[in-house]
Amino acid sequence: MLRPIVKLGDKGLQTPALPVTDFDESLHTLIDDMIQTMYAAPGIGLAAPQVGVPLRVCVIDLSIGKRDGEVITLVNPEFVERSGLILEEEGCLSLPGFQATVARPHHAVVKGQDRDGREVVVEGEGLLARALQHELDHLEGRLFLDRLRSLQRDAIVKKIRKMRRSGRW
Ligand code: NI
Repeated sequence: MLRPIVKLGDKGLQTPALPVTDFDESLHTLIDDMIQTMYAAPGIGLAAPQVGVPLRVCVIDLSIGKRDGEVITLVNPEFVERSGLILEEEGCLSLPGFQATVARPHHAVVKGQDRDGREVVVEGEGLLARALQHELDHLEGRLFLDRLRSLQRDAIVKKIRKMRRSGRW
């Protein structure tokens, strides 16, 4: 089932998410819905707070469903390692229409659990490293905006406020 994606202005996007303790049917439904919603958007990553669920769950698929077996599901993920630094343009499904250049480590290793609670380790470079960091940021209540210089951040926030006033956000 598709779930609506919340946008900047929703408090849940700026609140740290809670650890998952029950690997039950409702978690599986959430994960399946998140994958479907990510593909429909379309996007390469989605975190549970973006669909209004305050849990530490995210999904990533750089192929957006075009290649089998590429979807990564991470429950309770945390960084094991990060290194390097690279500047790339980045966007977010909760900030539709906005992109900015964000500095991120080039390489990241994340440890977490799969949908059944088994330990998984994901290692990524380039775009995958970026997606991992972007989604883990969501679980801390952080958006890519929070990684920009304040001048740049304020300019985007101001535009969104204006859009909201005129009912376009
Ligand atoms: Ni995002």
